Amino acid sequence: MKYKNILLTGASGKLGKAIATFHIFPSLLTPSREILDITQQDTIKKFFDNNNFDAVVHCAALARMRECEENPTKAIETNIIGTSNLVNAVISKERKSGKKIRFVHISTDGVYPGIKGNYSEKDETVPYNTYGWTKLGAECAANSLSNFCIIRTSFFDPENIKFDDASTDAYSSKAPISYVVKAILTLLNSSFIGTINVGRERRTDYEHYKEFKPKIKKCKLLDIKKTISFRMYKDASMDISLWKKIEKKNETNKK
Ligand SMILES: NC(=O)c1ccc[n+]([C@@H]2O[C@H](COP(=O)([O-])OP(=O)(O)OC[C@H]3O[C@@H](n4cnc5c(N)ncnc54)[C@H](OP(=O)(O)O)[C@@H]3O)[C@@H](O)[C@H]2O)c1
Repeated sequence: MKYKNILLTGASGKLGKAIATFHIFPSLLTPSREILDITQQDTIKKFFDNNNFDAVVHCAALARMRECEENPTKAIETNIIGTSNLVNAVISKERKSGKKIRFVHISTDGVYPGIKGNYSEKDETVPYNTYGWTKLGAECAANSLSNFCIIRTSFFDPENIKFDDASTDAYSSKAPISYVVKAILTLLNSSFIGTINVGRERRTDYEHYKEFKPKIKKCKLLDIKKTISFRMYKDASMDISLWKKIEKKNETNKK
């Protein structure tokens, strides 16, 4: 393991909890929002001054699409300004210590337009809702660091699929949360710098969920659109070939 002490933001969230409970990451610092609020520069400074870490896995965000549409100010403050605050604190800590900090930023497939699918990392990013735009703003901040990895992904908890139907005409590369947790660890330890798509092969949402919830029923994207107030993707699938190469290299190295 390359990094001994890792700061995990958003540890109480869906992904953060999975990272912490998998016990595959060494020495995690998991401050609550009360201790480290990314929108409050003074709490970030206090935490950074009092704790030592050589890597950050940044999961904290306003990640609910509906909430981002209803409260764009909070989405901007959390996702864009919050991430910028954190990045500035990392730069400042690097300057003080003379050591580089590895920064893994969790982004989303929602930075792509969600129309044609099979998006590669080099494709144009034109998000289809407020959540996606604010996550794209967060990526801009992360790109200012020297040792960063931006992971564009989409995930679900196979043991907690809440809905009873899923669409047969919306496509994505979403992956079970455990798959994404392992990918984060691999990329954290890798020397990869830049932006990378992480997920599984393109499938309909129905197919993704049916694997884990066999009784799930089929529906159409139009049925889902009628029940939500924000824009959805038609095809958010990603070209995952770069990730597959790194994953394969990592498996070969383990043998
Ligand atoms: N869910 C998905 O399918 C999905 C897909 C692609 C990418 N992502 C990205 O993956 C990451 C994790 O998503 P998730 O589903 O785990 O989100 P989540 O369950 O909504 O958790 C969000 C986390 O961020 C924390 N947080 C929010 N505002 C904060 C602030 N001002 N300061 C400090 N912490 C704050 C929350 O703390 P509290 O508990 O105190 O609220 C919580 O721990 C996010 O960056 C998200 O954009 C998610």
